[in-house]
Amino acid sequence: MDFKTELKKYQNIVEQELEKYLRKQECPEKILNESMEYSLMAGGKRLRPILILATYSLFKDDYKICMPYAVAIEMVHNFSLIHDDLPGIDNDDIRHGKPTNHKQFNEATAILAGDGLLNNAYIVISEDLRKDVSNKKLKVFEEFSKAVDRMIAGEYVDTEFEGKQISNEYLQYIHVNKTGALLKLCVRMGAILAEASEEELKRLSEYADKIGLAFQIKDDILSEEGTEEETGKPVGNDKEKGKCTYVSKYGLQGAKEKLNKITQEAVKIVEEYGNKGEFLKELALYIENRKK
Ligand code: IPE
Ligand code: IPE
Ligand code: MG
Ligand code: MG
Repeated sequence: MDFKTELKKYQNIVEQELEKYLRKQECPEKILNESMEYSLMAGGKRLRPILILATYSLFKDDYKICMPYAVAIEMVHNFSLIHDDLPGIDNDDIRHGKPTNHKQFNEATAILAGDGLLNNAYIVISEDLRKDVSNKKLKVFEEFSKAVDRMIAGEYVDTEFEGKQISNEYLQYIHVNKTGALLKLCVRMGAILAEASEEELKRLSEYADKIGLAFQIKDDILSEEGTEEETGKPVGNDKEKGKCTYVSKYGLQGAKEKLNKITQEAVKIVEEYGNKGEFLKELALYIENRKK
């Protein structure tokens, strides 16, 4: 398996699916729709939808059943980014190498575009449930709503502690919730939709916990030593704002050691799946080594 080719293949599948949900018609709120599209199609890595599809593929081949959830999670993710960048939260001007939503449009539009994407995620799910409701889909829906709730809680604690010292426990709490919750949800949705056993679900959740934490530690590291050109986001801004991150708490070296340790642990879990687990293994390594 060539990981880069496989990743690109998944990214294309997600991009094509998202295209179907864009609203292009003339209407009084046309600019609002444009601002939702601006962020949704801005060039994100599509990691969350890909996690759903790749986890599902451990068990079954035809991942069509996953697509509404892949779209919905990417909508929620982009809602979280638009609001995260707002002046009241991180006050950032650049994302994906372009002006952030409120800079490109205005603050009112960005707030509402975020609201719109969050609500559209639930529209996509409810339409899918109306077509075919099953217990596993209801379980997915419940987990989806609860993970979004956790992401919002994590974002809140992150903003509350800006510029203050926090304990290791609180730092962990921020990371597990603001970033880990959605990533874990995606792995679990893929497994639940594929009707994985409780034991598999537990094992894959452990993998997800590890890559979720790894993902945010790497984000913290990139905010310190990445380049704006590669990340498409401002660099050095966590420090400037006095954000509590793995880097501020444990130093760059300490953060890298922690990242490497949990990545290796994640790899070990999916190695048990042999060839089938190859993509998820490479994905964990990609999270550790990514430049954006
Ligand atoms: C950025 O997430 C926000 C965090 C949770 C750290 P991603 O890096 O997955 O965002 P995009 O969509 O690929 O830009
Ligand atoms: C973003 O966290 C997490 C969410 C949007 C939930 P950060 O503020 O650390 O992420 P970036 O660096 O802006 O992408
Ligand atoms: Mg933030
Ligand atoms: Mg931010």
